[in-house]
Amino acid sequence: MLTNDQLDRWDRDTFFHPSTHLAQHARGESPSRIVTGGSGVYIEDRNGNRLLDAFAGLYCVNVGYGRTEIADAIAEQAKELAYYHAYVGHGTEASITLAKMVLDRAPKSMSKVYFGLGGSDANETNIKLVWYYNNILNRPEKKKIISRWRGYHGSGLMTGSLTGLASFHAKFDLPLPYVLHTEAPYYLRRPRLEMSEAEFVAHCVEELEALIAREGADTIAAFIGEPVLGTGGIVPPPEGYWEAIQAVLAKNDILLIVDEVVTGYGRLGTMMGSDHYGITPDIITIAKGLTSAYAPLSGSIVGEKMWKVLEQGTDENGPIGHGWTYSAHPIGAAAGVANLKLIDTLGLVENAGTVGAYLVAQMKEALGDHPHVGEIRGEGMLCGIEFVKDRDSLTFFDPGEKVGPRIATELAKKGVIGRAMPQGDILGFAPPLCLTRQEADIVVDRTAAAVRAVLETAS
Ligand SMILES: Cc1ncc(COP(=O)(O)O)c(C=O)c1O
Repeated sequence: MLTNDQLDRWDRDTFFHPSTHLAQHARGESPSRIVTGGSGVYIEDRNGNRLLDAFAGLYCVNVGYGRTEIADAIAEQAKELAYYHAYVGHGTEASITLAKMVLDRAPKSMSKVYFGLGGSDANETNIKLVWYYNNILNRPEKKKIISRWRGYHGSGLMTGSLTGLASFHAKFDLPLPYVLHTEAPYYLRRPRLEMSEAEFVAHCVEELEALIAREGADTIAAFIGEPVLGTGGIVPPPEGYWEAIQAVLAKNDILLIVDEVVTGYGRLGTMMGSDHYGITPDIITIAKGLTSAYAPLSGSIVGEKMWKVLEQGTDENGPIGHGWTYSAHPIGAAAGVANLKLIDTLGLVENAGTVGAYLVAQMKEALGDHPHVGEIRGEGMLCGIEFVKDRDSLTFFDPGEKVGPRIATELAKKGVIGRAMPQGDILGFAPPLCLTRQEADIVVDRTAAAVRAVLETAS
């Protein structure tokens, strides 16, 4: 058995970690953790710590850790047939069954599902499909994609461009041309404090309409958005936002890509986030909760309107020139089938709604009056706490003070994992959907203690 010291050294010398301060990690200055096991909402590390993972990994281990039903399905699939491709009409029982299950859980207007590996590649697929669609319809100019500031759609070349967070663009020469950003539906950070929620929605609509008018609707192919902003700060939209945005898109013949990588399969207390907000998508992006991250798998669910045009395209041009070696990988598909069954049998969609609401309510009870808490917000099993220097004037802390990361670090010392969201002093929670009320109480108590420990010294 390797010693911890040996693993630490190999880690620093050989492992390029994503979203990590590379120099500090290589010098051994930044926190690291070697994770060894997990059960329910808890993970364990090599130092013998047991932590309540209130972010479900990267909001993906929705059924919780250690589910043998999924592990067994993966093992059986690997033994029977670890791999076969899905090109030129090939499939497996697992991939075909999963496609049926995905469609059964999608809004009625959806038609087919293409399987990829992760959220980023699924969104790359989506943009290619949107471009293909407009080329088949003889609209070669209609190609630009509108995303929102603070949206998160991945970190590839196109998807990193769609992502509206500074650290995903800086020094990477992103965003690429074709990508435009519009106002985020982030009421706390509205341009004028005195704006009501309804006025702020009208402002978001005006910004979108102005952008479309400036660029020309005939140059804009699609709008992409998450039902609830995730990595951008865990921000549910103001009332009426999606209805108003969809009206603008319909008027301008702009497709809607709904990125449900976080919200799909129960996170908001409904099967899909689109159900929650009454959204009618042209494409839906799914990943994370599709397999609860027991194996990598993503999907692009294509609506009937687009599907008809894709079929027409292949009649005119031959087979579609798009696919990955690992599209619809049987092991991912087997994990997906077992996972979606488990979500149903354990009643996790409902639990996300009820225990999620409890978590947010208890968090408000514990911290709602704290002088440095600007807002506690949430929807389903998502909760965000935004810290401010002054709550009356809504003045934010200097990012250099690292208030959010310091609170997250303190919280981990107290045995609970929350996530310091990358832009702003925001502590995010997205626990496994099986969280109980008792576990929610632990999250709230430890968070309140961590906030007190860090902020009693804040200016
Ligand atoms: C809404 C959303 N879309 C896309 C992605 C990208 O997924 P992946 O990291 O699997 O590429 C993420 C990842 O967090 C996400 O939250």
